[in-house]
Formats: sequence, structure tokens, C-alpha cells
Amino acid sequence: MDLDQPTVPLTGDVRMPLLGFGTWQATGNAGYDAVLAALDAGYRHIDTATMYGNEKEVGRAIAESGLRREDLFITTKLPPDRVGRERQTIEASLAALDTDHVDLWLIHWPPSSPGDSIPVWREMLAARDANLARAVGVSNYSISQIDELIQATEETPAVNQIRWSPSLYDRQVHAAHRDRGVVLEGYSPFKTSDLSDPVLVRIAQAHDVSPAQVVLRWHIDHEIVVIPKSVTPDRIRANADVFRFSLTAEEMRDIDALGGSA
Ligand SMILES: NC(=O)c1ccc[n+]([C@@H]2O[C@H](COP(=O)([O-])OP(=O)(O)OC[C@H]3O[C@@H](n4cnc5c(N)ncnc54)[C@H](OP(=O)(O)O)[C@@H]3O)[C@@H](O)[C@H]2O)c1
Repeated sequence: MDLDQPTVPLTGDVRMPLLGFGTWQATGNAGYDAVLAALDAGYRHIDTATMYGNEKEVGRAIAESGLRREDLFITTKLPPDRVGRERQTIEASLAALDTDHVDLWLIHWPPSSPGDSIPVWREMLAARDANLARAVGVSNYSISQIDELIQATEETPAVNQIRWSPSLYDRQVHAAHRDRGVVLEGYSPFKTSDLSDPVLVRIAQAHDVSPAQVVLRWHIDHEIVVIPKSVTPDRIRANADVFRFSLTAEEMRDIDALGGSA
């Protein structure tokens, strides 16, 4: 992947762009238009899921963009109700996305029966070994659930995608992921933020950007992957325009403190 955007290394030689485009609730033509606008605005990492019901539109937008597959990073996710049908599920995702592999395949939520977690993880690893996914990981897992997978298989999930934002910042949770070599990927950065918070507003004014852009840049400066979603062209562009400024150490600390654990 030849990118002028910051990336984080995953296991093997896979590099994951720290900024991605979220697509939950972006379905049908609106989803197609949003992904096409995102690729046009410079995003090279798209986050979808079987559950979002938009893989076909994501695939269509990618094809229409004319970008090379090797310059894109595509994530999709296995829904919990597909336990036992993992291979069939990724094959359906690949067909809908019109690609022969995804860059990252995640277990969307821990299976409802805890006994299923390790067999599902083994299926994820098998799909990776069959080159259907370049890397595999989890979403909405606790650290102890991650440790169970590592203990059983000696294979560490490349990524854990969880809810994250300044107000949810938890230094220990971040460190626990880092210590295990699991990349932390945050979701719902805006839905869990108060964009009128005085700290975010003050820092935004200092850099002549918006509080939303400060939230995104804060993730990136922590090397946490962030995947904002929007179907609004101006916001899609503004959310990608976060590489022309960076936050000072003091500003980072002030934003960390919004999580109450700093
Ligand atoms: N693994 C999981 O279980 C899980 C769960 C939730 C989400 N996710 C992933 O994470 C992605 C992002 O999370 P999310 O969609 O929940 O929420 P989000 O990205 O935090 O917020 C999206 C909302 O914020 C609005 N918005 C976008 N840019 C904005 C800006 N610059 N200023 C103000 N508002 C803005 C959007 O409106 P418009 O669209 O109307 O512009 C939309 O209503 C999802 O799309 C999905 O890919 C994963």
C-alpha cells in the first residue's frame, strides 16, 4: 500500500491506515454515494460488515472509483448469528465486495455462547491462512476475552474494534491492548463525544479546525484507528482533512482528561 497517510502495522506485512470510513447505516444508494465520495476525498480504508447490509454498494463504489485494490484497505465483520457458517459468510462478503480477499475480518461481537468463541476464532485463522483475509481480529471484546483466544491458539487478534472517544478514554485499556500487540480501533467517535465541550472547542479554535477534526486527530496522534461515518459530502471531506495539523503534548493530555482516567 503506497499511502501518504499514517498507517499502523498489523501482524505480517499488513499496514492499516489510521483513518478509515465508517459505513454503518449508510445503505442503498446513499451508502454507494457516501463511499464513492469518501474514496474521492482520500480515504483508503473502508469499514463495513455483513450486518450493515451494504457490502454490495461498497463493492460497487470501489469498482467505480477506479482505484487499485492494493491501494485500499477493506474491513468486514462476521455477525454472531453466523457461528458454524464462517467460511460461507466470508465467501458471501467477498462476492458482494467483488474482491478475492479483505484486509481485515473481525468477529463483530463475542458469540452469545462463550464456548463458541475459540472455535470461531479458529475459523477466522483458517480463513486468513486460506488468504481470504490478510489479517483477522475481533470487535467488542474485553481484554480477558482476548486473552482466552491467545491462550487457546497462541494467535493474537490483530485488532480489537471498540467504542472509543475522548470521553471514553481509558489509559489502562489502551495500554492493555498495546502490551498484547493488539491494535485498538475506535468506533462511534462522534456519537460518544460532546462536540461543544469547551476543551475541544478551545483546541479546535487554536488550530482553526472543528471540534470533530480535533477528536479524529486525537485518535490518530494516539495511534488509535478511527472510522468516522458520514453521508454528508462536506463532512466526509472535512473528516478526512485532519493531516494538516497536529496536537501538542499538552493538548493531548487535556483531551485525555475528558475520559476521567488520565
Ligand atoms: N464494531 C461495532 O460493533 C461497531 C458499532 C458501531 C459503529 N461501528 C463502525 O464505526 C463507524 C463509526 O461509528 P458510528 O457510525 O456509530 O458513529 P460516528 O461516526 O461517531 O457518528 C456518525 C454520526 O455523526 C454525524 N457526523 C459525521 N461527521 C460529523 C461532523 N464532522 N460533525 C458533526 N457530526 C458528524 C453523522 O451524520 P451524517 O451521516 O448525517 O453526516 C452521523 O450521524 C460505523 O459507521 C461503523 O463502520 C462499529
